[in-house]
Amino acid sequence: MLAPAMLAAAVAAAGSPTSPIYGVTIPDGYRQWEFIAPALEAEPLDELRIVVGNRTAVDAYRAGTLPFPDGAVLVKLAWKRLQSPDFAPASVPGPATTVQVMAKDSRKYAASGGWGYGRFIDGQPVDVAQHETCFACHEGRVKDRDYVFTRYAVPSGLR
Ligand code: HEC
Repeated sequence: MLAPAMLAAAVAAAGSPTSPIYGVTIPDGYRQWEFIAPALEAEPLDELRIVVGNRTAVDAYRAGTLPFPDGAVLVKLAWKRLQSPDFAPASVPGPATTVQVMAKDSRKYAASGGWGYGRFIDGQPVDVAQHETCFACHEGRVKDRDYVFTRYAVPSGLR
C-alpha cells in the first residue's frame, strides 16, 4: 500500500495541470512504469495505444486482485496509427494524441466507482464535457472488472 502522502503525490503532483471534475494529474515518472497491454482502435480514431501501471496496479493485476487497491494508477498513451515507412504491413506510432489517467481512491472518487479520470492533450486537460463521458462508458461495459477494460498481457514464454 502507498502511504497517504504518496497517494496524494500520484493524484496531484504540485503545479501540474489537473483534470476537471476529478483533479487528476499526469503522474510523474509514468513513462518508466510497467507495461500492461497494447490496444488498437480501428475506427474512428485509428490509434495505437499502450496501457502502463504503477507498482500498486501491476501487483494487483498479477495477483488478480479486484477491486484495485487505493493508490493504483493506470495510464493509457495513444498515437495515430501510421503505416511503417520501412515495412508496409507493419503499423507504427505516428503523432501522439492523448495521455489518459485513471487513479484509484475509493473515498475521494466514491461517486465514480473509486476512480478519478483525466484526459490530456499536450499535457493539458481536455474540457469538462469529455470528462463527463469517462465513467459512463467504463461503468456500462466493465463494471464487473472494477471499471477497467485492459487485461494483463503475458508475453510469450513468460509469466
Ligand atoms: C466510449 C467508451 C469510452 C470512453 C467514453 C472512455 N473510455 Fe477509457 N477506455 C475505453 C476502452 C475500450 C479502453 C481499453 C483500451 C483501448 O481500447 O483503448 C479504455 C481504457 C482506458 C484506460 C486504461 C485502463 C482501462 O480501463 O483499460 C484509461 C486510463 C482510460 N480508458 C481513461 C479514460 C478517460 C480519462 C476517459 C474520459 C476522458 C475515458 N477513458 C473515456 C473506453 C472508453
